[in-house]
Amino acid sequence: MKSIIDFQKMKLDNEKISMITAYDFVQAGIAKEAGIDIILVGDSLATTVQGKKNTLSVTMDEMIYHTKLVKEGAGDVFILADMPFMSYQTGPKEALINAGRLVKEAGANAVKIEGGAFLKETIEKIVTAGIPVMAHIGLMPQFINMLGGYKVQGRSEAEAVKLASAAAELEHAGAFMIVLEAIPEETSLVIQKAVNIPVIGIGAGRYTDGQVLVFYDVVGMLAAAPPKFVKKYADSRSILIKALSDFRDEIKKGIFPSAENIYK
Ligand code: KIV
Repeated sequence: MKSIIDFQKMKLDNEKISMITAYDFVQAGIAKEAGIDIILVGDSLATTVQGKKNTLSVTMDEMIYHTKLVKEGAGDVFILADMPFMSYQTGPKEALINAGRLVKEAGANAVKIEGGAFLKETIEKIVTAGIPVMAHIGLMPQFINMLGGYKVQGRSEAEAVKLASAAAELEHAGAFMIVLEAIPEETSLVIQKAVNIPVIGIGAGRYTDGQVLVFYDVVGMLAAAPPKFVKKYADSRSILIKALSDFRDEIKKGIFPSAENIYK
């Protein structure tokens, strides 16, 4: 299994890090066979698996359940689990207890938390207990009510400087990696240069040490049009709809089951 030491080395060797979300056994197995470096059990399971409008309602128990499913299929792929809304904002002690549950009960190798420098003490506490922490800055979906929607962050020079200094503080607190979400690539470059740990982009352009996307977006499984930063590598939704409508047609016409599907 790759470790946080390997990810640091990959950055130094200019080898890009690949990360994909997964929420269950089947997706984790597909990510493993594809050779993905890190599987993120994202709280985006709210908007993908659960059909919710945002990620705020996800619970610790749901994160543990989905991380357990992923663990079953991930083999030796490094698993990162999102800490859901209100599982760490309430203070370092509760954050440590919840991070511990994701590792101990569900099998995560590390946890991810959204937020800037205010998380320093929380990160120190979790890392001191032996749990690697990934930070997440830029567009932070758990802060949607403060940000006023899913908007690009860090467009001005002042905002870029602020994000870079937050990234440096997060590194100093012990984060092993940082996600940059929805940031112009010039700003990502400023942040990337401000830290020594890998930065992973989602809608953050080319100057990051790796990329992460949501599983359902990459394989084209969702009905809604994906955001601009997504590249759809397959159109699974139409393939699956065709498979199910062929199945329905064959039932109606008495074609399925045929001889090869029948026990003798
Ligand atoms: O929950 C998630 O899928 C994430 C990614 C967008 C980075 O946090």
